[in-house]
Amino acid sequence: MSVTQHSTWWKNVVIYQVYPRSFADGNGDGVGDLPGLIARLDYLKALGVGALWLSPVYPSPMCDAGYDICDYTDIDPLFGRLADLDQLISEAHKRGLKLLMDFVPNHTSDQHPWFIESRSSRDNPKRDWYIWRDQPNNWRASIDGGSAWTWDEVSQQYYLHFFLPQQPDLNWHNPQVVEAMHDVLRFWLDRGVDGFRIDVVHCVGKDPTFADDPRCMAGETMVQINDQPYSHEVLRGLRRLVDHYPGDRVLIGEVNIRSTARVAAYYGASDELHMSFNFPPLDAPWDPVVFRLCIREVESCLGQQSAWPTWALSNHDNSRLRSRYGGSLARANAAAVMLLSLRGTPFIFQGDELALEDTQVTAQTRVDPGGRDGSRAPLPWLSQAPHGWSGKAPWLPFPPDAEALAVQTQETASHSTLKLYRRLLHCRRHSAALRLGAWEELPSHPKLLAYRRYCGDDERIVCINFDEAQHTFALAGDWIIEVASDRQGENQLFDGTLGAQKAVIVCRKGTDHEC
Ligand code: NOJ
Repeated sequence: MSVTQHSTWWKNVVIYQVYPRSFADGNGDGVGDLPGLIARLDYLKALGVGALWLSPVYPSPMCDAGYDICDYTDIDPLFGRLADLDQLISEAHKRGLKLLMDFVPNHTSDQHPWFIESRSSRDNPKRDWYIWRDQPNNWRASIDGGSAWTWDEVSQQYYLHFFLPQQPDLNWHNPQVVEAMHDVLRFWLDRGVDGFRIDVVHCVGKDPTFADDPRCMAGETMVQINDQPYSHEVLRGLRRLVDHYPGDRVLIGEVNIRSTARVAAYYGASDELHMSFNFPPLDAPWDPVVFRLCIREVESCLGQQSAWPTWALSNHDNSRLRSRYGGSLARANAAAVMLLSLRGTPFIFQGDELALEDTQVTAQTRVDPGGRDGSRAPLPWLSQAPHGWSGKAPWLPFPPDAEALAVQTQETASHSTLKLYRRLLHCRRHSAALRLGAWEELPSHPKLLAYRRYCGDDERIVCINFDEAQHTFALAGDWIIEVASDRQGENQLFDGTLGAQKAVIVCRKGTDHEC
């Protein structure tokens, strides 16, 4: 495999998810915003990521934290103005960072003018832009788990929503909807964004028969099971559109079906998504058996059709990786080594580079109707409270240990998770094997996970100990520890022992590396 075959930027970078409400507050109102983010771009550059995915910043009533959009081509005043977004694009580009917007095609807010028109009467020209029926079927919605249909008193029909009742689903079978949404993409591409993360893209095509689904009887929601041929047709249209633009713009889809084989289909014949999220690894417990299976599945389902994988262990919809893995700092650090050394494009969810845990919310501080506040807490920048969030108290409480885990504290500590991430990203940038190389599993003790990454004569071996006990991983020849999750022994010969919850990346002695 030659490196030039893989020269496209999105295979070479690590992508950082910015959850703007909690990243950095520029105006002191307690909610993160675009000026706050712009002011912290140098932090992201120094971290070593290559692209940012910005969760939604569009005008929204915020019933679902901005995933309920009432204007696709503007910025909510909570986050700033369109001019701030333009400045963000330009400041990111100045630093060599790509910027991806969140595109939410499946549904709008019920406050979107399109829906207000659609519900105004049965013969409104926009009636068919949404999905109206006289009778509901048994489909279930996500977030509140209730029916996916809500009765509309005004027009005396039910409308479909795969999420909250305030998020009616668009009818992508209507060509006017397709055209309007293509215009939305053009609007942002013309402004210079480098691509999109596409929200629940597998949901846009609906079963045209609207038959009851037996899986809904078992409590499954449509977002977990919807998988219709028409979504692929929609995607091919989106792909043609972005391919028309210069500069390697990228489509990364959220395909929330818990089957890697099904996810693979959304790459099409290189004419649908460039990359898709794949959630089984994010659901996995900290267990080498489960991760081995997840990785093998990715290699066999995606590798066969040369579809480029993604890896994400946290996001704004799930508990943070450290909390899910039991709160251990050592495990969180070992997980970082794994995340950043697998074959594919890794996604870092903001704050994981600080080893943050979920914040604790009470009935008084709870915001999200889906109970997902834990991972959405504000980032602690400064050691001292209020941690760089001057002015009004932030919209959610800080995560635990905010002082010890703050950026400022970790910058000055001799060892910290932040410094580990910087080193991992640095080593990845300087190793073709880690960025683009093939993946091969190596035999090891069952409590370890070991693999080789190689590209030409560049080679790395990664070994992760998932256990509380020390184990041995013997390698023939002399190998140097390039990165150790506990930072012990780096640049020294690897003697084959791996302490509890420790992970290492090793390279052959004499490898020309800059780390
Ligand atoms: C997936 C997003 O990640 C989630 O936050 C949101 O609630 C749903 N899609 C609906 O847009």
